[in-house]
Amino acid sequence: LASIRVDVSAVDPGTQITVLWQGKPVFIRSRSEEEIAEARAVELSDLPDQSAENANLPDGTPATDENRALTEDGVWLVQMGVCTHLGCVPLGDAGDFGGWFCPCHGSHYDTSGRIRKGPAPRNLPVPVASFVDETTIQLG
Ligand code: FES
Repeated sequence: LASIRVDVSAVDPGTQITVLWQGKPVFIRSRSEEEIAEARAVELSDLPDQSAENANLPDGTPATDENRALTEDGVWLVQMGVCTHLGCVPLGDAGDFGGWFCPCHGSHYDTSGRIRKGPAPRNLPVPVASFVDETTIQLG
């Protein structure tokens, strides 16, 4: 798979950028302290999809926020910007859980990109990603 490198030095806390990778949008977000705290306070039993859906971890890894964030401090969250219902692009900073909202049929994702309400069956997938230096994320 072709990989790309993304400069994230200009992404301020509480904002995100969207890049295209393999023809699909990828959301790269620098989360605020509040977003991280909210994501980490959620019980697994409240999640419709309890799998992390993280390509960097084995299948079936629990969907804790720690298992979805790219960095241990929880700041960076990288995920495909493709609704797991029928593939629309969810909107950021929206929905009942302060994360993403898919306007096509009303799916609400939390600040960890986990589905919480609506028809989407799965969390937004986390692609293979890593930091290659302090300000550069490689996808793939
Ligand atoms: Fe997102 Fe249907 S495509 S809710």
